Amino acid sequence: MGEMMKKKSRWWRKGICLCLTAGILTGCQDADTKENVKSIRIGVTVYDQYDTFISQLIECFSADLSNKEKETGTVIHIEVCNAADSQTTQNSQVEDMLENGCDVICVNLVDRTEPTTIIDMAEKKNIPIIFFNRELVEEDLKRWDQLYYVGAKAFESGVMQGEVAAEIFQSDESVDKNQDGVFQYVVLEGEAGHQDAIVRTEYAVSTLMEHQVKVEKLGYGIANWNRAQAQTKMTQMLDQHGAEIELVLANNDDMALGAVDALKAAQIAREDWPVIMGIDGTDVGLEAVKQGELAGTVYNDKEGQAFAMLNLAYELATGGELSGLELEDGKYIRLPYAKVEQEDVEQYQNGEKP
Ligand code: BGC
Repeated sequence: MGEMMKKKSRWWRKGICLCLTAGILTGCQDADTKENVKSIRIGVTVYDQYDTFISQLIECFSADLSNKEKETGTVIHIEVCNAADSQTTQNSQVEDMLENGCDVICVNLVDRTEPTTIIDMAEKKNIPIIFFNRELVEEDLKRWDQLYYVGAKAFESGVMQGEVAAEIFQSDESVDKNQDGVFQYVVLEGEAGHQDAIVRTEYAVSTLMEHQVKVEKLGYGIANWNRAQAQTKMTQMLDQHGAEIELVLANNDDMALGAVDALKAAQIAREDWPVIMGIDGTDVGLEAVKQGELAGTVYNDKEGQAFAMLNLAYELATGGELSGLELEDGKYIRLPYAKVEQEDVEQYQNGEKP
């Protein structure tokens, strides 16, 4: 079997990569000047394709492609791979992408503390890497000048979640079910060690306190961003604390929806539900805000992140200018979050975010 065929069958056997353009697998031309580049190849690997937020971010990224092709006259080939929660799998996906002639690779790390293998391989081949959503530590990002990060400011989402919860507590007496002047809360946490999980919880709680809301933590459950796991954890907390729970702070919408599932399964009347807050503004999350099941969410700008990532990838692949991309420290692009409550949810659902 020829080398190309061998590679192809390895690719298919894994069954976890998807080619998003109908482009011909010719590899990419070398970029000497920007005008000469007629086709580029971008590799993308995600930690888990079933993560709701990540899958929607990738949808946005692919939706932006044809505009970028029209605007630049460049054919853009994309391969998206699912690392299925294995850093070893992700490392070999990046290795394949480097061998297959990708001009730039976008990596949603499985383990944000283990970027070394990827960085070393990419540096050897001189191919830039854009890490996204799962943030590596600054020291790692600074190890080579062709490493970038696209994401958001984790603390900002926690602050906004806390602000909305504080406003609800102060404007609606009925949420303080036992009328003791204290907001009794539970937390549904994302993956241990994920920058967004730790920071969102800390800032949501400290913001409530800064707004003079007295709080009491009744419990927490780590549910790894996952709706089903969150339902299980919430069911346990309901068994333990029942009607004492007045607020659920979930690190993302999927886990907030897991709490909703638990309340429904326990047949708790809607007027007795605690206030439930998410983060992300995924399609399902926004719909739950519209239906009043979630009191609010914080928009994690997947469209902005996808667009920034594509523009950065394009410039890096074509040897273009980075000056128009507003890179912080020459390496970071961080999109702002925004609060979403019932009165503005439709704007977000219609794609007209303010
Ligand atoms: C999102 C989560 C997602 C996680 C994956 C976070 O920024 O809010 O919904 O599961 O990233 O890394």
